[in-house]
Amino acid sequence: MSKRLVVAIDGPAGAGKSTLARRIADKLGILYIDSGAMYRAIGLWALRSGISLEDAQRLEQLAQQAHIELLPQGGRVLLNGEDVTEAIRTPEVSEAASKASAVPGVRRAMVEQQRRMAREASVVMEGRDIGTVVFPDADVKIYLDADAAERARRRMAEAEARGGRPDALQMQREIDERDARDRSRSTAPLMQAPDAVYLDSTGLSISEVEQEVLRIIRERTSNGKELQA
Ligand code: DC
Repeated sequence: MSKRLVVAIDGPAGAGKSTLARRIADKLGILYIDSGAMYRAIGLWALRSGISLEDAQRLEQLAQQAHIELLPQGGRVLLNGEDVTEAIRTPEVSEAASKASAVPGVRRAMVEQQRRMAREASVVMEGRDIGTVVFPDADVKIYLDADAAERARRRMAEAEARGGRPDALQMQREIDERDARDRSRSTAPLMQAPDAVYLDSTGLSISEVEQEVLRIIRERTSNGKELQA
């Protein structure tokens, strides 16, 4: 008998969620969903259309109208048919996404889409509220953390790999601000689900974290059932 598997990975910016989630999904041959990319797409659309990030009503309308596709091949992100994979990774969009994601109506629209994406398939989904709100019944919940300086270093390296020339202090400030906003918002704040496994990736290699998460998944699913990809 096969069973759908839902693996939820939450944590602050730069903890290594995306890399980990992608590798776990690859290993298990199941779908990877980057829920942050969806909030980023909304942030990008708001910036482009000149909608104020304080205007909850218009942001909610925008989120309801947005057609967001996460293509499994190559992790491309489409917004209303346009490939916005690179456009959503700028510092301006990071901030806009964090602000837009604090709007309850925006979250409602995204959570509905996220649940729809996982209805038919096994998934690894990463974000801030996956284990607490989107899938409170997820089979495996991981809260991935790392110390603030390490997280800023990783984001710097990512920005440099994209050809940027980030300023270390500014990067640290932006991450701190964004995490504070994501943790303190009233709807679905970033927090560890009571039944999530806490993992601190500071000083660990990605393969060490991956091995540990695969071990947890095996432990939780070792009841003889096969995965349905
Ligand atoms: O993971 P990320 O940095 O790409 O996410 C972008 C923003 O979206 C981040 O500031 C927090 C928000 N977000 C959220 O509120 N809930 C999620 N499930 C995923 C991301």
